[in-house]
Amino acid sequence: MTIPTVTARATAPPETISTGTASRLPDTRTAADTLVVDGPTDATFRRARQMSERIEADLPVDPTAYRVVTGDRPTGDLHLGHYIGTLSNRVRLQNAGVPVTVVIADYQVITDRERPGPLRDRARALVADYLAAGLDPQRTAIFPHSAVPALNQLLLPFLSLVSVAELHRNPTVKAESLASRRTLSALMLTYPVHQAADILCCRGNLVPVGKDQLPHIELARVIARRFNDRYGTVFGEPEALLSSAPVVLGVDGAKMSKTRGNTILLGADEDQTTAAIRSARTDGLRRITFDPPARPSVANLLAIVGALSGREPARIADEIGDGGASVLKALAAEVINESLRGLRARRRELLADPGYLDEVLLDGTARASAAAAETLERVRAATGMDYFSG
Ligand code: TRP
Repeated sequence: MTIPTVTARATAPPETISTGTASRLPDTRTAADTLVVDGPTDATFRRARQMSERIEADLPVDPTAYRVVTGDRPTGDLHLGHYIGTLSNRVRLQNAGVPVTVVIADYQVITDRERPGPLRDRARALVADYLAAGLDPQRTAIFPHSAVPALNQLLLPFLSLVSVAELHRNPTVKAESLASRRTLSALMLTYPVHQAADILCCRGNLVPVGKDQLPHIELARVIARRFNDRYGTVFGEPEALLSSAPVVLGVDGAKMSKTRGNTILLGADEDQTTAAIRSARTDGLRRITFDPPARPSVANLLAIVGALSGREPARIADEIGDGGASVLKALAAEVINESLRGLRARRRELLADPGYLDEVLLDGTARASAAAAETLERVRAATGMDYFSG
């Protein structure tokens, strides 16, 4: 690919947004990943892994050197996969003293569907899930990105920094576009640029992500770098913080996802949770062993119990042994219900007070707007569009 204005950084390998397959990576794919056309390249993934390890080591030393930006699409209620994969990590970072910003990515909802759905209710429900999981609105700003005009305005100069061909090569966009079975809209094609605005408007320098989001973080880095090269240094290059949490499968053995309807919702009650786990797919083998490639659905239940109880899945398997799937399922249901009991009670209380949830959003929006306005001022000054200042 041609990159017109890139300065190589000592720590970065050559440009790595390309369409290789991740063939030398350990195969952590699930059935759900069969839709993925390509993943990030080996080099991108390896670099992100190494950087993540370095950053994890540095975080406790200097937490306020980092500004975490992360986000969710308000397309439905959060589930156990979110809790294990992202929510608990955000809470951990916040509690380590890192400023955290959470974007409710409402514009991303209409990338692959025609109707936005009940956004207002969904935004409130997200706030309830976040706070119930332990995010503290004093320390963590939560806002819908549609509500911050300066953020959206950054999209225009950013669009000038990337080519249409580059956007077409984004493997995550390709996969999402295919899965949506709709013609590729211009918003679908450009949402990763908008996501760069989410991150850069708040001067985010650390973005906790799973592997599928790596191409977007690479793009945000490229945009920051090209902007700086053209107009003078305004942005730092954000880093991905790769999660070490397991990918949680749904009760049907495919990746747990809202669209697939195989989830265990954070808002489900204990009986629903127990029934869902009881119906979860397992295999015909009596003896329980932890063998993710050969026995993905059994390994998934073990990994869930492991993640929630801080224990090794293989040890849990040993303990169950010939107890079989019924013992494993009973244990999983119990551990999930116990782990989520406090969260679920807080969630119910929070949902009963929508006025408070709106206040949290309003306050987060005010903080994000202040940061984004300041960033936009600097962008205006750098690009010579600061007509009315000074
Ligand atoms: N695209 C992300 C997802 O689907 C959500 C998101 C929106 C995001 N804006 C962000 C993630 C900014 C990190 C940073 O999961």
